[in-house]
Amino acid sequence: RVGPTRIPVVVHVLFNTAAQNISDAQITSQIDVLNQDFRAQNPDVAKVPPVWKPLVADARIQFHLATEDPEGQPTDGITRTQTQTTRFNIRTDDAKSASTGGHDAWPADKYLNIWVCPRIFNPADGDEILGYAQFPGGAPETDGVVIGHRFFGTNGTSSAPFNLGRTTTHEVGHWLNLRHIWGDDGEGCSGSDFVADTPNAGGPNFGTPTFPSLTCSNGPDGDMFVNYMDYTDDKGMFMFTKGQAARMDAALDSFRSSF
Ligand code: ARG
Ligand code: ZN
Ligand code: CA
Repeated sequence: RVGPTRIPVVVHVLFNTAAQNISDAQITSQIDVLNQDFRAQNPDVAKVPPVWKPLVADARIQFHLATEDPEGQPTDGITRTQTQTTRFNIRTDDAKSASTGGHDAWPADKYLNIWVCPRIFNPADGDEILGYAQFPGGAPETDGVVIGHRFFGTNGTSSAPFNLGRTTTHEVGHWLNLRHIWGDDGEGCSGSDFVADTPNAGGPNFGTPTFPSLTCSNGPDGDMFVNYMDYTDDKGMFMFTKGQAARMDAALDSFRSSF
């Protein structure tokens, strides 16, 4: 790729109560965060521990609300749908279809679909989920990311400690084929994120750990818990690595070459 890739975004707002019908300002605050984080222009990149500064990557991806809808008509890149559904099932992708209280996707080869909904739950345990993504290569009808409104953007209904827009940064990382930094093997040391410059790590980190945090004999520097693909609080994650940027590049050259 020469120069940054520009991705048109449609945000499908699904709301039950009026408060969940988030403002345009909350939506643009999220687009702004994506544009900082994927260009390494986020102010908190300065907090990256010195040992990892050489690995910080500008992923050269930019996002903008779509200006043309699938019919070629002007749009602000936002759809708003009132729904009777208050809890959206992650397994059955209820947010992604009008027939299940959501909104149908716009063509996935032309738009990044982001659904913002009242609440997402895992039917296995009923637990609330901040957001989830579909990896490249899946069905176009369900392609995109889903985020709970309280974890979206930096103002309005966004709430600490997930009020800096990093849930969407993390999910868009998955949408571009990034895996969790600990390799999704529970607390084990054999899983991989298929990226060479992220340290092998045990399980996810939460909250705001202090450097260094060692697992899997990964001393002296330990887990890269400041990475967007870990599970720390929004204020504790502020970098992608060069290896992760190369993996996103590969996704944009293959699965997502329509962008
Ligand atoms: N639970 C989500 C996932 O696995 C994302 C968590 C994002 N973390 C955050 N600090 N915003 O995709
Ligand atoms: Zn994740
Ligand atoms: Ca692991």
